[in-house]
Amino acid sequence: MSAAAEPTEEKVLEVLRTIRFPGLSRDIVSFGFVKDLEIGGGNVSFRLEVQTSSPRAAEEIRRDATERLRSLPGVHAVTIRLDVREPAPAPPRGAVGVPPPDAALLPEVRFKVAVASGKGGVGKSTVAANLALSLSRLGQRVGLMDSDIYGPSQQMMMGIDEKPFINEANHIVPVERFGVRVMSLGFLMDADQPVIWRGPMVMKAVEQFLGDVEWGKLDFLVVDLPPGTGDAQLTLTQKIHLSGAVIVTTPQDVALIDARKGLAMFQKVNVPVLGIVENMSYYICPKCGHRDEIFKHGGGERTAKQLHVPFLGAIPIDPKVALGGDAGVPIVAAEPKSPVTEAFLAVAEAVQKGLGA
Ligand SMILES: Nc1ncnc2c1ncn2[C@@H]1O[C@H](COP(=O)(O)OP(=O)(O)OP(=O)(O)O)[C@@H](O)[C@H]1O
Ligand SMILES: [Mg+2]
Repeated sequence: MSAAAEPTEEKVLEVLRTIRFPGLSRDIVSFGFVKDLEIGGGNVSFRLEVQTSSPRAAEEIRRDATERLRSLPGVHAVTIRLDVREPAPAPPRGAVGVPPPDAALLPEVRFKVAVASGKGGVGKSTVAANLALSLSRLGQRVGLMDSDIYGPSQQMMMGIDEKPFINEANHIVPVERFGVRVMSLGFLMDADQPVIWRGPMVMKAVEQFLGDVEWGKLDFLVVDLPPGTGDAQLTLTQKIHLSGAVIVTTPQDVALIDARKGLAMFQKVNVPVLGIVENMSYYICPKCGHRDEIFKHGGGERTAKQLHVPFLGAIPIDPKVALGGDAGVPIVAAEPKSPVTEAFLAVAEAVQKGLGA
């Protein structure tokens, strides 16, 4: 009998996905703890990079992972290097940038999903709006929160020209559009006046969004994050108790590098990355339906693979997407049967699946 072939990377990751960090809800792969995975000559090796004050937990994971991997056919040796880091000490409550998570906020929202990108202009807000509409079409109760302090755009994209009203309980009631409840920092900002939002102001606005907005019962709150990986993103990420993050990128290499930064930020604060969406990925000829790969297509998928996170789908580039955004009717509502809408629905389904919704 010949020796069993060594397992594929996918197979190894599948095994590692069955292992959870004690006390955390997700597996060690989703949390990005598995680094530098190598498989060769029957040897499986990787670095387990983990932030914890309990080195014993990391040891347990190493033992467990070694045992499970060794039972795979074709594996002769397993080497796991532990890279245990002490978590940063918690800053005092109210410190700028990194407030302690507050579980009491948004108790009626099942899943809070951030849409993020390391780089600006990749279509984050477009994806956030259309993802929200797609989830709603799939039967979920959905809210959309525009937390882009630099340039909130959901009001425009969702065609909202009124302001939310304040109810008797002194809570802000979101504006409903296309079945989605929308709140935007734009409601609170004067459009003509450039506002320089500094850390404490961001925090205040975010706290208000979380505490004083009457979201009601929601299955999903889609959060449109400001581009980048700075204070505002960190504040939001930690405050909201995100269930997961969707990272938007475009096929170009520069955007992909930034996508990695986004990923690293979420992993640092233990927010599971649900996956990567490649936007403006390919072009479908409106006349003949031919799919044209105008850019070096596939970078998003490749990056997802390298970083061991799911690839959630590719969205074609289509002028109607931009027109819909400008006109205040997202493409999923404007063209419910178009290939672009199909692509957004597929992403929404992947997000649901990633969260077990
Ligand atoms: N798939 C697409 N096809 C065509 N145009 C698109 C697509 N996705 C986004 N766009 C357009 O690209 C521009 C940037 O998109 P969007 O505002 O969603 O990006 P963003 O990442 O939110 O930007 P910012 O970093 O400024 O917040 C917009 O004009 C939008 O209409
Ligand atoms: Mg935006």
